[in-house]
Order: sequence, then structure tokens, then C-alpha cells
Amino acid sequence: MAVTEVRTAVFPVAGRGTRFLPATKASPKEMLPIVDKPLIQYAVDEALAAGARRLVFITGSSKRAIEDHFDTDDALEKLLDSQGKYELAEQVRSVLPSYASCIYIRQPAPLGLGHAVLCARPAVGDVPFFVHLADDLIDAEVPCLKQMTETFSARGASVLGVEEVPKRDTDKYGIVEVEAGDGIVSRIKSIVEKPKPAVAPSTLAVVGRYVLTPTIFEELERVGQGAGGEIQLTDGIARLLQREPVYAHRFSGRRFDCGSKLGYLKATVELSLAHPSLGKDFHAYLKQLAATLDD
Ligand code: G1P
Repeated sequence: MAVTEVRTAVFPVAGRGTRFLPATKASPKEMLPIVDKPLIQYAVDEALAAGARRLVFITGSSKRAIEDHFDTDDALEKLLDSQGKYELAEQVRSVLPSYASCIYIRQPAPLGLGHAVLCARPAVGDVPFFVHLADDLIDAEVPCLKQMTETFSARGASVLGVEEVPKRDTDKYGIVEVEAGDGIVSRIKSIVEKPKPAVAPSTLAVVGRYVLTPTIFEELERVGQGAGGEIQLTDGIARLLQREPVYAHRFSGRRFDCGSKLGYLKATVELSLAHPSLGKDFHAYLKQLAATLDD
């Protein structure tokens, strides 16, 4: 019987986050907070909500803070309890539920996203898995990976999260060409990494969400250097398409590109507005501020 549940999530977190230097000189970009949670916590929460139990982080230098974040911190919990700060203590405890386990694998050199995913092979084994890129924060009623899991279960094949992007931006993404679908799910005919707008097959871009069958590992072993001289996950998926169907899933929700400063600021503003204890005051502040701004 085909495996239709996904229990393993891979988080490639080895990148240096140069766009946020000097903030990311000694601290991982995935630890940048949006309101009060680091980006990687949003990523892990989404994967857990989609059924993941085994979390595989592909790390690099200066990433120790991620391991510390998901470790238990008895001293801190005891301190907060002794101060009667029970709610905070609970928040610290619930960073990682007890049923989840973390595995950290070091990517020996920055050889690309495809290479990072290949580094996860010994931990993933022969089962389907998620790949989640924490830079892409998706605010959605039903977590994006959960939406995609439903498609994965129904089709029994790999699924990529996609959305329309402006034509001028095709060279920032993996771009797919799809068959006619039902408006949400379509079978992918081709995929190409970061094509120039003039040659892009469409404006349907892959965001940082993937449900992949383990066949991808065999294909990643075979791909050579692609765009930017790196081993690209997109090129592995292009090969996978020759062997198995792969589907594009237009998720519902709002994506923030937190790999860019503007996207990061937008996420901060919007999630602050939606924050249960902060939202009202922040809304009032923004209104006041907006009134003082020039057009
Ligand atoms: C990566 C992938 C690209 C994908 C994008 C989504 O690019 O290579 O195919 O569309 O993530 O954010 P990066 O943003 O790491 O350059």
C-alpha cells in the first residue's frame, strides 16, 4: 500500500542570510523574530500541523541557536515557574511537543538547495517527506503544508506549493508549466529554475513548500550544477517529472518573502495587527502614524 501520510519534514537552514547582514553575522536568519516567534518556529509549527513528527534540519556554520531553541531549557522553565510566570513557562515548554524529534545534519559546503535536501537522505529514508523553506512565511487558515498533504494523499504523488507572481519576478523562483487543472491542483509538465521573464514558461512560481517522494533522492544524485552554479532542487524535480507525476497546488493563504527586508517588514506588520494581545494597540498606532505620512 502506498504511504499517504507524511511524518518527516526537512528544513534547509544552512544559508547565511546575507541580505540581512549584519543582523545575521553571528545569528541564523531563521531566528529572526516575527513579533515574538522566530521564523523557524513558524516553519516547525506548520510542519507539525501537517502531521510531521521527525524534524530534520540541514544546518551550517553559525546555526547553533536553532538547536538551542528546540532544546528543553530546564533552568529557564524553573526560573519562570518560580517567578509565577506560568504562561511564559508554558510557551517555552511548547516550543517543541514531546512527540516530535529533531535531527541535525550539517551541510558540509553551500552547494545549493538540491544538495541540502540530498544531505537529509540518511534521516528521511524511503518515505515521502516535506521540504519547508522558512523564508517563505505563509499565513493561512489551514496551514499550507496541510493543504498540500490532502493533495498528496489523493494523488499519491509529489506536490509543490505554487502561486502566481508578477512576470518581472520569474527569475527569483522555480517556475512551472502545468496542464489544465481544477483551479487548485494541476499536473506539472515542466519546471525551470529562475528563468528570465522573456523565456519563462508561465508566471506560476514554486514557493518554499514541497511534498516529495523519496525518488527525488535518486534524481538529486544525478543532477549537476545548475543555475548559479548550485545543485538545484528544481533540476531534481525536472528529472523526477520524467519518472512520476508531480502536481502543483495553488495554496490559499498569504505568503511573505521573509528573505527580503520588505517582505519581512510586511509580515511583521500584518502578524502584529493579527496578534491577540498586541493587535488593537498596534492598529491604533499605525492609524496615527499613517495620518502623519506624506502621500
Ligand atoms: C528557492 C528555490 C526556488 C523557489 C524558491 C521559493 O530559491 O530554488 O525554486 O521558487 O526557493 O522561495 P531561493 O529563494 O533559495 O533562491
